[in-house]
Order: sequence, then C-alpha cells, then structure tokens
Amino acid sequence: MKKNAWTPSSWRSKPIAQQPHYPDPTLLHRTETELRAKPPLVFAAEIEQLNQALARVAEGKAFLLQGGDCAESFAEFNAAKIEDTCKILLQMAVVLTFAGSCPVVKVARLAGQFAKPRSSDSEVIDGIALPSYRGDMINDIDFTPTARTPDPRRLEQAYNQSAVTLNLLRAYTKGGLGDLFQVHRWNLEFVKDSPLGEKYRHLADRIGEALAFMEACGLRMTDRAIIRETTLYTSHEALLLNYEEALTRLHPHNGGWYDCSAHMIWVGDRTRQIDQAHIEFVRGIRNPIGLKVGPSLNADDLGRLIDILNPDNQPGRLTLIIRMGADKIAAKLPPLIRHVQREGYHVIWSCDPMHGNTISTTSGIKTRPFNQILAEVHQFFDMHHAAGTYPGGIHCEMTGQNVTECVGGAEAITEQGLADKYITRCDPRLNAKQSLELAFLISDFLKKTRQQNEQWLNRTNLPA
Ligand code: PEP
Ligand code: CO
Repeated sequence: MKKNAWTPSSWRSKPIAQQPHYPDPTLLHRTETELRAKPPLVFAAEIEQLNQALARVAEGKAFLLQGGDCAESFAEFNAAKIEDTCKILLQMAVVLTFAGSCPVVKVARLAGQFAKPRSSDSEVIDGIALPSYRGDMINDIDFTPTARTPDPRRLEQAYNQSAVTLNLLRAYTKGGLGDLFQVHRWNLEFVKDSPLGEKYRHLADRIGEALAFMEACGLRMTDRAIIRETTLYTSHEALLLNYEEALTRLHPHNGGWYDCSAHMIWVGDRTRQIDQAHIEFVRGIRNPIGLKVGPSLNADDLGRLIDILNPDNQPGRLTLIIRMGADKIAAKLPPLIRHVQREGYHVIWSCDPMHGNTISTTSGIKTRPFNQILAEVHQFFDMHHAAGTYPGGIHCEMTGQNVTECVGGAEAITEQGLADKYITRCDPRLNAKQSLELAFLISDFLKKTRQQNEQWLNRTNLPA
C-alpha cells in the first residue's frame, strides 16, 4: 500500500487520543461487523447537497447555523425533546435569514452526538476511581463499575436512536414544522409576555406581510416547497472512529467514500493532532468537515491541517470552528485569519462561543456566563469585519428546553438559579430563550456584514 493511501481503516495504524478501553474486543469486533451491514443513516447525495450549500457559505452568500445538545442521551430520548431542538433551530434560522437577507444552512448537533472527549481518563469520587463517562455511545453516566465499563453494544443503540431521530427530523421539516406561513404559530410559550417574544412576533408579522405581498403580486407562494419545507442536516463529533468507519460507504458511481453516520462531522480540539488517527480518518471522506480550533493551535499548524484536510482548496469542504474563549480570541484569532488570507485558503469561519467560556461556580457547578458567550461572538464578528473576511457561522450547545445551565441572559439566571433545571449530560447549554436572544444579537452583526458586502460589491463594480 502506498504510504499515504487512505482507506476507511487507515486511521487504525496511527496513534489515537480520547478512546475508551473495551474489556471485550471480540464483542467490539462483532458489533462493528454488524454495523457495517446496516443501512446508512444518510445518503451520499444529501451529503453532496450540504457540500454545495456550504460552498455558498464559504463564498459569503449564506450563513451556517449549527447547534444542539452537548451530548444526546439514551435515557432522555423522546419526541418532545427532538421537536423542541428542531423548533428552536428553525426559529433562530428565521431570525438570521430575515436579518441577514441570506439563506441559513441549518445543521443540528443531533442523531449521532453521543461520544465526548474528557479531560481525564478516570473520575475519582470519595477515593474511588472509575473510568470517566465518555458519552452514551460508550458507557453510562452512573458512578458504578458496571455502568462505567465501555460496552460495544451501545454503538448499536446509538445507531438505532440516530435512525429514529433522523426519521422524526425529516418528518418535521418536510411535513410542515418549518412552514414559513406558520411562523406565528410556532410555540413561543417560553417567551410569552417578554420583550423577546414581542420582538419575535414583530418579525413573524413582517414575514407574514412579505409573503402576502408576494401572493398579491401573483407569485403563488402557498404551494411552494421552498416556503413549506426546510432542510435540517445532522452532525456530530467524529470521536469514536470504530463507529464512523463502520458507517463509511463507497459511492457506487463516483468512487468516493462517505461517512453515512451524519451529513457533517467534526474533529474536536483534543483530537486534531496532525499525524494522528482522527485527522487521518476525516481526510479521506467526502463529507464536509469541521475542525475545532482552540487557543493552542498556531497558524503554521493550522496551515498544515488545512493542506491535509482540503488539499484541493474546495470552498465549503472545511469549516474552522473557532472556540478560543472571550478572553483569548483577541490575541489568538487575528494571526490565524492573516495566515488563511495570505495562503488563499477557502474556509468557513464559524464561531463556537461555548467551549472556551466554561467556568466553575464557587459551589463547583460547570457553567458558562451568557455575557462571555456574547463577548466572544461580538469580537469574532468585529475581527472578521476588520480583516474583510466573512464571519460565516455559529456553533452552539443549546436546547429547546427551559433549562438553567448558563448564567445570565435576559431572564438573568443566577448561580443559585442553576440548580432549578440543570440536566445536561456534559456541558452547560443555552436554553431556548438564551438561544433566541443570541440569534437576535447575531442578526444585528449580520446586518453589518451585509452592508459591508454591499459596499464591497459596489466598489468592485465601479467602472475602471
Ligand atoms: C464539543 O463540541 O462538544 C466539544 C467537546 O468541543 P471542543 O472539541 O471544541 O472542546
Ligand atoms: Co461540549
């Protein structure tokens, strides 16, 4: 085999970080074989559709909204929860589409987001050390030796839950949940009687008027799929490569390999080592790839990673998901922007304002201050506006439910208030209100981006 030849299993000969230790490798092997024979969860043409949509984002003609759970769980798997996540993403998308006057590509962290990197291999409670919880695809969160032992059969359960979740997402988005004629009627219980709810209703009214105006002009809007239906793509961190490899399929016609576990996958900040397994795996598949970029990545290494992941410099293939933290982004992001500009790399710049802003309260609860999240988003947009590059996306851990996990926001969740409904499996998420609030704030930045684009277009259209 050629030194650089890629196969779905070539990652196996590389060092690999953040993996569970399975006590029963035979069972793991058998599960992988079974998964390999199962139908794909998504199919190649859909992945190519997302590639094209993301190419438009890279060119500054669309915006990427990516969000959902930090980690999905087997225990909390029900229709209401999936519907809530779907709805809040669609509501955020409506806000962003209207304000930015540009299409929003919607990608959920859902239907496969079951594996988590951890800061330590083990967790110690009262002097007892057990393997860390690594996500429901790997082990159980209960602190007992049986629960924490990695169990390969969980891969199959993750696959099955993903299939059912995808089925529901497709039904919602094609069956009327995303119908723009219904934006008024979407459940807004959570912002009832609040300025945020008022703002949303105002926006929905304007959309309603715009649709009525088009109808009156003779454009029959009511039976257009483009108004009645929407597309929600799926994504997750490609952490457990045994699972990803088993769902990677060869396209019979174009000869490309597609990871059919989701439309888009990303590599985490802790597994993006240049010569190691995760980068090796994703470089060979045709799905769009996300790369988490934290403060430890320097411009030269970023350049090397881009060369490996997107050797043909295809717009939309690679999304850099920046997660520096509000206190570091000012020093860390500009050198990366300059390097990417200098080298002429086509990338999507997306902002994950969650992972660099995690703190512990005095009583030891993990949280994220909403003002720090906003501060990072604000700086991200400002830096791109200053550099003349396009701030193309946002990546959030969020839920459509009324949880209390991040402090602050319009309803001013306090440290004491966190205890009310703190139910995340891993990291603190924005609740529905905070997510909508964030969307409105981003919409203001997007208006500025749009004005800047127009100025830029006017300049380039000037006669010589
Ligand atoms: C995540 O997105 O859940 C995550 C673990 O992110 P990061 O790799 O950026 O820490
Ligand atoms: Co997380």
